[in-house]
Amino acid sequence: MKKIAVFTSGGDAPGMNACIRAVVRTAIYHGLDIYGINRGYEGMIEGDIKRMQSHSVSNIVQRGGTILKSARSMEFKTLEGRGKAYNQLKSLGIEGLVAIGGDGTFTGAKLFFEEYGIPTVGCPGTIDNDIYGTDYTIGFDTAVNTALDAIDKIRDTAAAHDRVFFIEVMGRDAGFIAVESGIGGGAEFVLVPETKSDIDLIVKSLKNLRKSKSSSIIVVAEGDELGSAQTIMQLVKDRIKDPSKDFKVTTLGHIQRGGKPTARDRVLASRCGMAAVEGLLAGNTNCMAGVINGEVLYTPFQDCIGKTKPILSDHLKLIHLLSI
Ligand code: F6P
Repeated sequence: MKKIAVFTSGGDAPGMNACIRAVVRTAIYHGLDIYGINRGYEGMIEGDIKRMQSHSVSNIVQRGGTILKSARSMEFKTLEGRGKAYNQLKSLGIEGLVAIGGDGTFTGAKLFFEEYGIPTVGCPGTIDNDIYGTDYTIGFDTAVNTALDAIDKIRDTAAAHDRVFFIEVMGRDAGFIAVESGIGGGAEFVLVPETKSDIDLIVKSLKNLRKSKSSSIIVVAEGDELGSAQTIMQLVKDRIKDPSKDFKVTTLGHIQRGGKPTARDRVLASRCGMAAVEGLLAGNTNCMAGVINGEVLYTPFQDCIGKTKPILSDHLKLIHLLSI
């Protein structure tokens, strides 16, 4: 293998740049030609591909976003789109890929490998942490700390006005950001897509809690099965039926996707990036480089996208127990 390419795809995540840097420099260290593909699979289809040097990744380790830009490509989901992408890679002689992204990215990479046999190793880049085969994903730690910082600030004003705040965090299919920011932020409740949310229980507990606490924080993952934080707040408010109680909603949104990556994200990204290139050279393919129990391990894409990483039950217990 002489020429490889790296790209970022799906929702961006803080630490993606640190990962690109590690891929580029590890490739150069091992004597490979390294290319960067802009805008994920979209750029692959269009041939928006450039040669990268060591200096191409200078001064990016600390930056959020991704210098290669990112996209969610509809065209790559078609046979024709993948055919175009293959021809672009072939014309440049690219023999291997490093795909930085989440489950959508790996679903595409797996299909592409099965159809065209281009060896690919993935790096888990998503703030959601919902990838099987790694304890944490690149960007998760930064996103949790961003959410936590906001929750701390909201707590100040919630206490000052004796209010109940419903804070919506990201997580379309998974509640990891909600759970960790909820534990760190001392939330009374955390509502996540993985467990059934019980409005009656929340109403009952809020009534009891309000005898001892004047304000409360409820963290809602955006993918909760009962709906958005706004919808859930309304359901609770309608049942509490007390006009003197003040309910507020804050949706944190995309601020969770940006910002300087934490040290943990930079180290994880660098480890995964190096492991992806060295995995390609060692013949590992159609798999993702992740870190489990401190060790770099390769997990087949099939498992990364087909298996669900569960929320730890002791995390759910902690939220319940510490809210009394
Ligand atoms: O997958 C990461 C994520 O931030 C999810 O938590 C969120 O639901 C989604 O991306 C939002 O995507 P977009 O930025 O394309 O609206």
